[in-house]
Amino acid sequence: MIEAKNLSMIYGKDHKAVDDLSFHIGKGEIAGFAGPNGAGKTTVIKMLTGILKPATGSATINGHDIVKDPLAAKSSFAYVADNPDVLLQLTGLEYINFIADIYKVSEDARKKRVPDLAERFGITDALTTPMREYSHGMRQKLMVIAALVHDPPAWILDEPMTGLDPQAAYELKQMMREHAAKGNCVLFSTHVLEVAEKLCDHIMIIDHGRSLYQGTVEDLSAAHPGKDLEEIFLDMIDYKGSSQEDIA
Ligand SMILES: Nc1ncnc2c1ncn2[C@@H]1O[C@H](COP(=O)(O)OP(=O)(O)OP(=O)(O)O)[C@@H](O)[C@H]1O
Ligand SMILES: [Mg+2]
Repeated sequence: MIEAKNLSMIYGKDHKAVDDLSFHIGKGEIAGFAGPNGAGKTTVIKMLTGILKPATGSATINGHDIVKDPLAAKSSFAYVADNPDVLLQLTGLEYINFIADIYKVSEDARKKRVPDLAERFGITDALTTPMREYSHGMRQKLMVIAALVHDPPAWILDEPMTGLDPQAAYELKQMMREHAAKGNCVLFSTHVLEVAEKLCDHIMIIDHGRSLYQGTVEDLSAAHPGKDLEEIFLDMIDYKGSSQEDIA
């Protein structure tokens, strides 16, 4: 359902932010995307969603190539960007309706979905308030609701839990599970390895734009007996740690 083949991205003259990355996320799967700051996660997500054109390779969502058939591909996924500070002059409901108009969501569907999503995220009372008056977490909730309102098969979420309170984070995890259980797929990036461990069928670890691991959390753990996911991750990215001597 989400397929990346040999994706690469070069910023400027020669900064290779993503280097020949391929992966496949099938129906019913939740995939977690991990890697240190600057590893290339957001760049990959921007290539999958058509915001950036890959230097090499291709991406297809639900069988539609994002470069060759962008409208069909874009109608097949929900996208939550890493920054929720957009169109802050609009109220939450105006923003949701703006996005729902773009995706041609029917009035009936909006009447069903918006109150339900707003209730689950505990943001119903704020829907008629301009988003500039929202906290960071409230903006994040609103972006998630607006992204999900057209109910597409694939979800592509860039650090969706950032800033969410525990109840909203719980609801979003539940919603990911429900979505995948219906035969859809979810790709999300995260720095919270425990979330990836609990939620994901498939985990991808990248660094310097290259794949370090792709597979199940169980297989990863089995290959590194006695270590938790955080230790395995730090080993993989060759983290040396820092001591007081290093700092001094
Ligand atoms: N617009 C840009 N112009 C130039 N370089 C960029 C641009 N966006 C990202 N980069 C570089 O590309 C690399 C990957 O960045 P990216 O934002 O994809 O990482 P990330 O894995 O999402 O990091 P984080 O965990 O901090 O969100 C970094 O070295 C970054 O400096
Ligand atoms: Mg990022």
